[in-house]
Amino acid sequence: MSINQRRPVPAGRLRKAPEGFVSGDLINDINKHGMDETRRGFLRKGFLAASAALAAGAAGRAAAAPAAGAGAQAPAGDPMILQPRPWSTMLGHPVAFHPYGVPSKYEANLQRRQSPGLTQTAQASVAFAPLQGFFGIITPNGLHFERHHQGWVDIDPDQHRFMINGMVKESKVYTMDDLMRMPSVSRIHFIECGANTGMEWGNAAVPTVQYTHGMLSCCEYTGVPLKVLLDDCGADLKNGKYILAEGNDGSSTTRTISMEAALDDAIVAWGMNGEMLRPENGYPLRLVVPGVQGVSWVKWLRRIEVGDQRWNAMNETSAYVDLMPDGMLRQYTSIQECKSVITSPSGGQVLMGKGYYNVSGLAWSGRGKIKQVDVSFDGGRNWKTARLETPVLDKCLTRFNIDWVWDGSPAILQSRATDSTGFVQPRYGQLHAVRGTRSTYHNNAIQSWQVADTGEVFNVHVE
Ligand code: MTE
Repeated sequence: MSINQRRPVPAGRLRKAPEGFVSGDLINDINKHGMDETRRGFLRKGFLAASAALAAGAAGRAAAAPAAGAGAQAPAGDPMILQPRPWSTMLGHPVAFHPYGVPSKYEANLQRRQSPGLTQTAQASVAFAPLQGFFGIITPNGLHFERHHQGWVDIDPDQHRFMINGMVKESKVYTMDDLMRMPSVSRIHFIECGANTGMEWGNAAVPTVQYTHGMLSCCEYTGVPLKVLLDDCGADLKNGKYILAEGNDGSSTTRTISMEAALDDAIVAWGMNGEMLRPENGYPLRLVVPGVQGVSWVKWLRRIEVGDQRWNAMNETSAYVDLMPDGMLRQYTSIQECKSVITSPSGGQVLMGKGYYNVSGLAWSGRGKIKQVDVSFDGGRNWKTARLETPVLDKCLTRFNIDWVWDGSPAILQSRATDSTGFVQPRYGQLHAVRGTRSTYHNNAIQSWQVADTGEVFNVHVE
């Protein structure tokens, strides 16, 4: 039954999570000395203090404008609509005031953020995308997550070269101009780091969806299909089983990619959401390998080698491998399996009263399209099917929405995605049975958000 067919219910209001609850000093301190109980305590305190400040601010604003909330009407009416607003009686800013547009100052809190204590240096680190603030499926370029092994670089495209060698008839070196003259495609795909949700294996570790799932982004990429370039060099497709992709940054990140993925839908890309890639995301050239974990999307791409064996590079032997329950390391599990998360309401947000809420989230699968998303409001006992918003594309984020009338009692919200292969996203209990709890990579378990009777939303671990 859709919400329109029901008796009208008051619309609930959601208070945002405190976006920046960790001070720069604390981040530096944790980065220098590591995480211990005292610093963990500081983190918790910072989060609670920021939440309280946000609550006080919201209460103050509500008192100053009593009629402004959720359709309520004070007897005197809402001054925001009854009195002319200053900005409607003056000249606005001129055109091209910001030659490159910037977001409203009221959105300044929505930023990608580093997780304190996760890494020793900010160059070999992660900045998480604020999923809680996004609509639809496209990630704004300035808020795309970042993962660098040796810091990011801004390379002059005139000085950038891309080479293909190895098992090819003719090794070739391309300039950016050469590449951008070739037949190009534009396709929308998600990118997820294999380590996304890596802190959550054993218990609920971080407070908001930005930190649980924010190594995830989705853009329209433009570039030359890798197949066109391999054909151009006469790659030996009979004996060449793999390619090696290599980056031009300090880390020279290298990854083995199967020839199957390379020929299927991989793109040597320069465009991201209609403009050139941002430097943090590999300007001027990166590899896009749809459905495959982020580490294979080599940035600042300088070379592809065709070979008949895997290279066993550092990032495929000691990192980006799955630690299995028997202590063995499983290599080359590259595909990002079917997964979903509710982004609203999510950890750190507060439901400001009973009533209607549009529960919204994202689902994706590295093996194809999202077929169905089910949502539970009682920790997995009962499930309802959510609406999938269009477009629903291959190896791409899909936005889902579902109506919910909160009656004010405690609830546990979960989403469970099914992809076009029929694979159903697992519960933690199911994942642990196969993978144990000591892994870092490829955690695609169902995420749970607990709603307390106060309306506060917490990250909670449900097996
Ligand atoms: N490519 C190079 N050259 N250097 C890197 O550090 N990081 C990899 C991959 N490609 C990396 C790289 C990892 S681990 C991930 S998850 C993605 O890039 C992150 O891409 P993004 O920073 O655009 O989000």
